[in-house]
Amino acid sequence: FLSPEVVPFAKTGGLADVAGALPSALKRLGVDVRLVLPCYRTARDANLKKRRLRKELRVPLGSETLKANVLESRTETGVMTYLIERDDMYDRSNLYGNHFGDYYDNLERFSFFCHAALNLSEAISFKPDVIHCHDWQTGLVPPLLKETDNKTSPLSNTPSIFTIHNIGYQGIFAEEKFSLTGLSRKDFFHPEGLEFWGNISLLKAGVVYADAVTTVSPRYAREIQTAEFGMGMEGVLKQRKTDIHGILNGVDYHHWDPSKDPHLPANYSAKNMQGKRQCKKELIQEMGLDPSLETRPLMGMVSRLDAQKGLDLLVKVLSRILALDVGLVVLGSGDQGIERAIQKAAKRHPSRVGLLIGFNDPFAHRLIAGADMLLMPSRYEPCGLTQMYALKYGTIPVVRAVGGLDDTIQQFDPKTGEGNGFKFEPYTPKSFLDRILYAVHLFETEKTWKRLMREGMRADFSWKHPAREYMKLYQSVSKRGAE
Ligand code: ADP
Ligand code: GLC
Repeated sequence: FLSPEVVPFAKTGGLADVAGALPSALKRLGVDVRLVLPCYRTARDANLKKRRLRKELRVPLGSETLKANVLESRTETGVMTYLIERDDMYDRSNLYGNHFGDYYDNLERFSFFCHAALNLSEAISFKPDVIHCHDWQTGLVPPLLKETDNKTSPLSNTPSIFTIHNIGYQGIFAEEKFSLTGLSRKDFFHPEGLEFWGNISLLKAGVVYADAVTTVSPRYAREIQTAEFGMGMEGVLKQRKTDIHGILNGVDYHHWDPSKDPHLPANYSAKNMQGKRQCKKELIQEMGLDPSLETRPLMGMVSRLDAQKGLDLLVKVLSRILALDVGLVVLGSGDQGIERAIQKAAKRHPSRVGLLIGFNDPFAHRLIAGADMLLMPSRYEPCGLTQMYALKYGTIPVVRAVGGLDDTIQQFDPKTGEGNGFKFEPYTPKSFLDRILYAVHLFETEKTWKRLMREGMRADFSWKHPAREYMKLYQSVSKRGAE
């Protein structure tokens, strides 16, 4: 299981949650799953036992062969994890880039990671039946397994699965760097291969050469095959349409459960919701907001600050929302332009808007628990995990009907009592605002709102079911490989 980020070692977004939780669920099904990720600074500093393997890896990178160390560790649930250690590549302040943009040597860093992960197999005497790769950073693995010159490698022709968590990140690099991939140019650098408008695309490499492709919700699986959401990859994806599977992500209820969440000032459950009030009160205090908001709707947002997440819509409707006598708390990190826009808007309403810029997991838990509604006006959303966390915390999602948001949130109908949140369709301030107005209106009827909260808190989005779907897929590709 190769992922560029995994909880509890390194995280920028939902992929880390998935890569932390799915292997545990697979392990419970009896799979011998081994995780591999780069040993970033956060992974090195993570307070988990680690042991350096005596054997060094020798890893090809272009015309050179470099060394790497391997640290062996385990996740909290005991999943065996290997960290590829090479400080000059991974011991940096962030995972993928800094305020200048992406790290200039990301092709080197992740080509190295892919080759190291494959060489690891021999070093630890472990031959997997299937290799499951996640996002562009691992995209070179499927073609490397198919490389004809590679026949002597013990892993050659091992089936692979490539999961797209976000098609907005494609791992595009200049053609001149092709030799760093370690692949034969003649066999792989062409339009049916990993060439993409004259460049190298590592996402395309994964999509074209994996034995099956998955993405993280059924609706996103359909969306990425259209020009509106495919970001130029729709043609490539359509060619593989019979091998594309949309498997909805799950929630790790071990980490996201208000009845035992250690980050909350008070715990609560669907049976006893008292603690939620306390969480709201303390969140309002912590952010220095007007105490009168305790009885008014408090909205929240926990998000990477990226164009994907629709923060421009939020900025546009902010004054109108606040006129409804409500509060808003935002936690986010990422794009500096978006950061400045929100800061500017928030400054105008200091007693109503609380803003925390940065990455802060305990605060994400406190925010999701303390808010009444969670806003996710995404332009696109492959799956989205925070809306599912929100449901469990009795915090009602107001989402745009795209991708996994559409698959997980059903419009609430007060007449029938069915539905678990609020959805809007067109990406316009008006339709977003209309949904919020409607949600605020329903908030006023306590009985209706409580019913809605309970509905969400009882839903089960655990990994049990999706893990079985992955298992079936692993079995089907390994059978195909053996034929
Ligand atoms: P994405 O992967 O696109 O960022 P998801 O909803 O799938 O979106 O997952 C986001 C994950 O990252 C959630 O676990 C959320 O709590 C977390 N997260 C996002 N931004 C922050 C932040 N600034 N601080 C702490 N956690 C964050
Ligand atoms: C991506 C997507 C998000 C998804 C997550 C985990 O970062 O943006 O929607 O939930 O991956 O699959």
